[in-house]
Amino acid sequence: MKKIACITGTSGQDGSYLADLLLNKNYVVVAADRRSARSDNWRHKYLNIEKKLIYENFDLTDQGSIDRLIKNYKFDEFYNLAAQSFVGSSFNTPISTSEINGMGVLRILESIRLNSPKTKFYQASTSEMFGKTSNSYQNEQTIFYPRSPYAVAKTFGHYIGQNYRDSFGLFISNGILFNHESPLRGEEFVTRKITIGMSEIFYNKKRFLELGNLDAKRDWGYAKDYVEAMWKMLQQKKSDDFVVSTGQSHSVSDFINQCCKLLGIQIKWKGKGINRVGINLKTNRVIIKVNPNLYRPAEVDYLRGSSKKAKSKLKWKVKTNFKQLVKIMLDADLDRVKKSY
Ligand code: GDD
Repeated sequence: MKKIACITGTSGQDGSYLADLLLNKNYVVVAADRRSARSDNWRHKYLNIEKKLIYENFDLTDQGSIDRLIKNYKFDEFYNLAAQSFVGSSFNTPISTSEINGMGVLRILESIRLNSPKTKFYQASTSEMFGKTSNSYQNEQTIFYPRSPYAVAKTFGHYIGQNYRDSFGLFISNGILFNHESPLRGEEFVTRKITIGMSEIFYNKKRFLELGNLDAKRDWGYAKDYVEAMWKMLQQKKSDDFVVSTGQSHSVSDFINQCCKLLGIQIKWKGKGINRVGINLKTNRVIIKVNPNLYRPAEVDYLRGSSKKAKSKLKWKVKTNFKQLVKIMLDADLDRVKKSY
């Protein structure tokens, strides 16, 4: 008998890679998305999986739609990846973000508890929950200090999962994933914004790129590696929480420097904070500017994860390092930009 899995948020980066992984493992995969997200299935086309998925309408704010889906399929595994995933916009839409990223998790858990208690559940928790951390590494024991409505809602989702696991004995695993990127990343996130922007600058289609806080540091890994960890979490005997990260931290400007290196652009940085600019030494032109409007009301300055537990218990390991990741993303965008003009 084939296993049957549900993925919410399948139209996104992680949902697409995970769907591909599960299809390759011979699962039946139900893609549960809002109807409006369905039109945005360029990632499914890119991975050539759109004809292999069963699409179902589903809305995290609508209990009826969740109940119908869970009662109907009684899934073996349920991966909740749907979210309002852009931290920056959660400051403008805090209530709907909380409804989806926080209460949405509880709605699914209630439905699983009442209708299909054997379903194994994966919750996409996030390193954003660590927020204003003072630890040089963050792991499963690190205290949360969320810094955005996005992170506060995700922290609720994380804790309610722990609570349902303890209270009702359900199989619920939280994956505390650090930032993970790829050529399938949305263009609003900083890594894709940089790889697209630098590709356009390289082909003289753009003069400069405007960004926010260049000093923020993140632990960036490759999304394709990270979805394997999600799956492994649901193959364990016992459910648990796991940090998934590379253990390396780089600033936004490091990411730009690495792109410049690959493109053969010599960049010189001048000024500090909002006055900082990046200059192409060969042309003497400013190619990076800071726009203070792109700063967040509260920032997460530094993230660096320790995924020792995932390494030892899940036998998961980092396959793609920072330099390889930047190259994969930049090559894909150079190609896209070249073809689109
Ligand atoms: N998006 C964006 N755009 N971020 C910028 C910009 C810009 O122009 N300039 C600087 N940054 C900084 C942000 O202030 C932040 O500190 C950092 O770059 C990374 O921003 P994002 O790429 O938007 O990601 P994120 O860290 O806020 O959140 C992502 O990772 C989380 C995991 O830790 C998202 O994928 C979340 O959904 C996820 O939970």
